[in-house]
Amino acid sequence: MNRDIQRILVDEARLSERVNELGRAMTADYAGREPLIVGILRGSFIFMADLVRVCDFPCTVDFMVVSSYGGGATSSGNVRILKDLSEDISGRDVILVEDILDTGRTLYNLRDVLSRRGPRSIRIAALLDKPDRREADITADYVGFTVPNEFVVGYGLDYDQRYRTLPYIGILKPEVYTSS
Ligand code: PRP
Repeated sequence: MNRDIQRILVDEARLSERVNELGRAMTADYAGREPLIVGILRGSFIFMADLVRVCDFPCTVDFMVVSSYGGGATSSGNVRILKDLSEDISGRDVILVEDILDTGRTLYNLRDVLSRRGPRSIRIAALLDKPDRREADITADYVGFTVPNEFVVGYGLDYDQRYRTLPYIGILKPEVYTSS
């Protein structure tokens, strides 16, 4: 185990099992459709890569980079799009894939922005949900794990851009983020 990790919250086997369950649920829900699966970078990249491979329906993929800031719980003016979609989502079923739903500001604002582009539907798949931290009125349609308000890293999630490549979700030792 990485020496900066206090303990493993979700190990590789459980991650794989749960991602498979989400893929099965989505496969049932999207039967006969061809959604656009949108990864919100960077945190979603590993979850998205695993998820799309267990979704048994035709789909296309796209990516966005966004930055949420300010008191954005209610206003879509508070999401900055750093990399926009390459695809037109008008009439499409869109699935937004995130690593974590924390305050909810990012997805609340992003969903608002994208909904004005005329998609047929927008759903959210979040690997982790931290409901204790929620400020915006939003829930995910597909949630991998509900987690406590701890500093989690790995499987795409970072602290200061590090630890994303760990194959598990771990809780970071407090001294790692309090010493700098
Ligand atoms: C993280 C995460 C979500 C957002 C969730 O992104 O990937 O996009 O924060 O937080 P919220 O619910 O409070 O809005 P971050 O800006 O850290 O970028 P990253 O994906 O590159 O890690």
